Amino acid sequence: MALSHDVLVVGAGLAGMRAALAAQAAGADVAIVTKVYPVRSHSNAAQGGINAALNPEDSWESHAYDTVKGSDYLGDQDAIEILAREAPGAIVELERMGVVFNRDEHGRLGSRNFGGASHARTYFVGDFTGQAILHVLYEQLVKSGIRTYNEHFCSQLLADGGGAVAGVTAFDMRSGEVLQIGARAVVLCTGGIGRVFEPSTNALICTGDGSALAYRAGAPLMDMEMVQFHPTTLKSNGALISESARGEGGYLLNSEGERFMKKTAPNAMELASRDVVSRAAQIEINEGRGVDGCVLLDVRHLGAAKIMERLPQIRELGLEFAGADMITDPVPVLPGMHYQMGGIRTDVHGATPIAGLYAAGECACVSVHGGNRLGANSLLETVVFGRRAGAAAAEFASGRKAASLPESLRDDEERRLRTLVERPGTERTAALRLEMGTTMTRQVGVFRDEPTLRDAERKLALLRERFAGVSIGDKGRLFNQALVAALELDFMLDLARTVVAGAIARTESRGAHTRVDHPRRNDAEWLRHTLCHHTPDGPVVSTAPVTITQWEPTERKY
Ligand code: FUM
Repeated sequence: MALSHDVLVVGAGLAGMRAALAAQAAGADVAIVTKVYPVRSHSNAAQGGINAALNPEDSWESHAYDTVKGSDYLGDQDAIEILAREAPGAIVELERMGVVFNRDEHGRLGSRNFGGASHARTYFVGDFTGQAILHVLYEQLVKSGIRTYNEHFCSQLLADGGGAVAGVTAFDMRSGEVLQIGARAVVLCTGGIGRVFEPSTNALICTGDGSALAYRAGAPLMDMEMVQFHPTTLKSNGALISESARGEGGYLLNSEGERFMKKTAPNAMELASRDVVSRAAQIEINEGRGVDGCVLLDVRHLGAAKIMERLPQIRELGLEFAGADMITDPVPVLPGMHYQMGGIRTDVHGATPIAGLYAAGECACVSVHGGNRLGANSLLETVVFGRRAGAAAAEFASGRKAASLPESLRDDEERRLRTLVERPGTERTAALRLEMGTTMTRQVGVFRDEPTLRDAERKLALLRERFAGVSIGDKGRLFNQALVAALELDFMLDLARTVVAGAIARTESRGAHTRVDHPRRNDAEWLRHTLCHHTPDGPVVSTAPVTITQWEPTERKY
């Protein structure tokens, strides 16, 4: 029987579940396709919190301005205004659904400080806020009865004769069966591209599947060079040590015991925006004032009780993976890949330039983060723009007849996947993935220059050629993780090239993109978004203007 829905959401993290619930509330028949069970989505890993100007002394304008400044003026201000205005309602809605946010001594919602924010406006659940929200949204999903195709890998977007998106093909990882699922609208909520870099704070599943599908279908990817390096990650495995540690009062020290942030951000210190703190930490390491390739995060002065109440997860991470108990020792940390500010270009309703195709969450670029995302604005983006995208997709679907797609598309996809599994070759997916990831970290990291980027571009082109020689070790159908890994690598190789293409094109330094050969921000030429367009020979870059509503660019100081 042909499967079909009004709205099909790909991905079941916070953006995906929020989009699905909104689409259903707007009257659509909705389903979700997800490669992992919803509660295993990477939103689980979000630690520090979610932003909103809820306190009486705070305002949405202040939240919006901090976000614009944090973005180094590359964020689109119409979208940022929506994010900040809708934030308080989104938090209250989550709380009413059942998220047990921290309360202050008066029993009111209690917030913590976060980087780049002029007020304490980060609402949190210990240091596992994403997990708490994800599980509550999952309860809502179960209650809604929305169908979820769990452990189904979406391998292709399908279009009707007019080029509008009309569904997907996906295979059931448990059985290998390929499904063709028709949809009047598709919402991509597949998360970030973190694993294009090695290591990364991102889960192994963060391979940018939806971003690559949209890109290949003709949707431009915007500002892909804007990659966030979080200042505090673990050297051994890239795990995140939440900014909450600094929000609660933690220090960053160099090998001389100096709080080095006083040199670059004398006012905000450790709570300057992430791009600023990461650059400062990397300079300490590069100039020989690091400790074994790291700087030190010191929270000992907070005391054991506060650490155990507010930071229990990161204490465990430090113990397990760095051998340091933050109650008694400083923890060695270094900047590491954490978030992709760029993504599939959308309008403020999540619509991409392709009719019927929507995107929300980290895979999308609406753009509220511009050159640098403020911590705790990403959870907010998932629920605000997830809801908007779901509602807009439902409205689009209600005005459109279902396309009648030939059933043979399913057979074609099955043949393509079988050919991939059976093709001969000597290359291994894991080796190519590691080479791609380490090249990106070494050559497309915190500091960049043209010769190094050009060399990375060459290496990625060679890896793309070598991918044709990848042989998939598992020839079976059931839980063929080797096939999944090869498809993910195929997607990531395309995406890595867009990051490098954007980084070469943007001959200035802005936000997280620091070109040592172009050290200044250049508003005259580069107050613009980059757009990467897919061609068989690799990405082609164009640019588009930034939307300014009320905040003209000025020098950024913390
Ligand atoms: O440091 C953190 O807790 C990360 C938060 C975020 O990326 O928003």
